[in-house]
Parts: sequence; C-alpha cells; structure tokens
Amino acid sequence: MVRDVLSILIDREKIAGRVRALGRELAADLEAELRRDNAGRDAAEDAGRVVFVPILTGALIFTADLVRELPLKLSLRVVAVSSYPGTSVESKGAKLAGELPRDLAGKHVVVVDDILDSGQTLGLVEDLIRMQKPASVRVCVLLRKPESVRKRAVEARYVGFDIPNEFVVGYGLDFDGFYRNLPDICVLKDEAIRGARGQ
Ligand code: IMP
Ligand code: MG
Repeated sequence: MVRDVLSILIDREKIAGRVRALGRELAADLEAELRRDNAGRDAAEDAGRVVFVPILTGALIFTADLVRELPLKLSLRVVAVSSYPGTSVESKGAKLAGELPRDLAGKHVVVVDDILDSGQTLGLVEDLIRMQKPASVRVCVLLRKPESVRKRAVEARYVGFDIPNEFVVGYGLDFDGFYRNLPDICVLKDEAIRGARGQ
C-alpha cells in the first residue's frame, strides 16, 4: 500500500492540529446556538439537540477524530451515499443508499464529509436534511477542491484544508475502496491507478 504513494500532501500532524481547531470552532458555535435556544435556562450542553451526520464511508475517520474534540452532548446519525457508476477518480452524480436519519426537526445538524468536490453528494444530503426543518444546518469538510470543479454550489462553513484539483487518498479517502487507512493525505503514483484499472 505505502509503495503506491507518490507524495504526502498533508501529513498526520497537520491534520490533527487542524481537526483540533475545527473542533474548537464548532464547539463555540454550537454552544452559542444552544445558549440562544435555552435563553434563561442553564446546562446548554445537556440539551441533546446537536446531531452530527457523517456521510459514509469517507467521513468515518475524520468524524471519529472531530467529535472527540467536542465537549458537547451530541448524537451521531450516519448517512450512506453512493455515486453513480463511472471511474473512481471522477465525480459522478450522487444517490442516497439506504435510509436518511429521521426526526431532525428542531435539531442543530452538522453534516460531515471527507471532501467537497463537485458538490453533488453534500448538495443532495443537505437538501434532504433541510426538508425535515432542522433548527440549523452546518456543513463541515476536511478537504475542499477549488470552486471551478463545483457542479453545484455548496456552502461549507467549516473547511479543514483547501487543496488543488488533485486526486488524493488517505485519512478516510479512497481509491476503489482502498487506502482509507493511510494516516496522511496522499497522492498516488500513476501506476497504482493504472494498475487498479488493469491498464
Ligand atoms: P462530490 O459529490 O463530487 O462533491 O464528491 C464527494 C465524494 O467524492 C467524496 O465524498 C469522495 O468520496 C469522493 N471524492 C472526490 N474527490 C476525491 C478525491 O480526491 N479522493 C478520493 N475521493 C474523492
Ligand atoms: Mg469515495
């Protein structure tokens, strides 16, 4: 696996530092929301109105680290989205695979994904969640590719790193289902991609 890596774009220490900072930012913003909801009441953190919705499978590792930075009462409700058939390194259309979490009405929802690329995945999930009339919806991504690749506009309020339009793997991101367990965000060698396609 490691010999398929061409270079490291973002190493594990840098990721960890940024995830901690995102956690602090999210905690402060969510606590402020809860205080507003609770005006006059105390124990904002006990409200249980914060729901994190990670998009499987890419957001798994990022979410695991992120939520452990949050000293808040929150629940986790996963959503699975699959891409329409195509090549593994291109953005395809997204469709829901399985159930969408229910009873999000009145909740403060944070949708988490590994990367904002064409915007189709997050756009779809955000639309479906908004139909349930949550109190607020925030989008948090570890990586964001340039706006020029967007097929659909998505406002991500929390972004770990802006990266160039390059295909990356590791820390949850895959190529053909593999490399998610690399601890750093990496670029693969051409031959690893060609090899997987039998070229
Ligand atoms: P979007 O719907 O095009 O925004 O794509 C989002 C999904 O495509 C992500 O959740 C990833 O699973 C996948 N994706 C997009 N770019 C990359 C990449 O550079 N490496 C690995 N997966 C990617
Ligand atoms: Mg993927």
